[in-house]
Amino acid sequence: MNYILTNSYEAMSKKAASLICAQILMKPACVLGLATGSTPIGAYKQLAALFKAGELSFKGVSTVNLDEYCGLQETHPQSYRTYMNDNLFNHIDIKKHNTYVPDGMASDYAQECAKYDKTIHELGGIDLQLLGIGNNGHIGFNEPGEEFVMDTHRVLLSEDTISANSRFFENEISNVPTAALTMGLRGIMHARKVVLLACGKAKFEIIDRALYGPVTPKLPASILQLHPDLTVICAKEC
Ligand code: GLP
Repeated sequence: MNYILTNSYEAMSKKAASLICAQILMKPACVLGLATGSTPIGAYKQLAALFKAGELSFKGVSTVNLDEYCGLQETHPQSYRTYMNDNLFNHIDIKKHNTYVPDGMASDYAQECAKYDKTIHELGGIDLQLLGIGNNGHIGFNEPGEEFVMDTHRVLLSEDTISANSRFFENEISNVPTAALTMGLRGIMHARKVVLLACGKAKFEIIDRALYGPVTPKLPASILQLHPDLTVICAKEC
């Protein structure tokens, strides 16, 4: 594991963007696994700035997102598709048809999940997977449980997650979707490189337990201890 501690959110974001930039320069037709939440927004800003400065092109890049809420139209302001468009895709030259986010409105979830895993497989797997971490140790929406779930699947969100994410839904818990589709741990663990971001003291305890405690499905991010190419970038302040 490569552990990088930075002093600020900006420094963490710049470091993450520079690793993603290096990945694209090394393999212009690479597959990026992308995350949502507040943590990666700064890295996406940096990537958009690199594109604007003419230093980076996403023309050959494909992306697969980790997850999507069930029951939100993709045009909903809090859907992860909207998040990706607003924070990254609308600011770079990526071809939209090469960007994949699970369809949270699919009528047959099992079929949609199987299709998503097939897409990842057909793309040749993920070259670099970007991750944040939930307060309860979830990655994507792989919530704490009794077993590691390997395939893309539908998950019922935990109370912790619903409460943490209510800040995006006018602080109203009843507005937060109760279920989501999430890439499973195989997609994440088979990525050739994983970059995990965490910022602020609030995340330090969970990062410490995930990286140095026992590997257990009760703390899904702990499986990353087994990843052969994991870079963790933390920021002291958020
Ligand atoms: C959501 C996302 C995760 C993300 C987590 C933490 O639940 N599904 O992918 O890592 O939130 O978000 P934040 O970065 O806002 O703390």
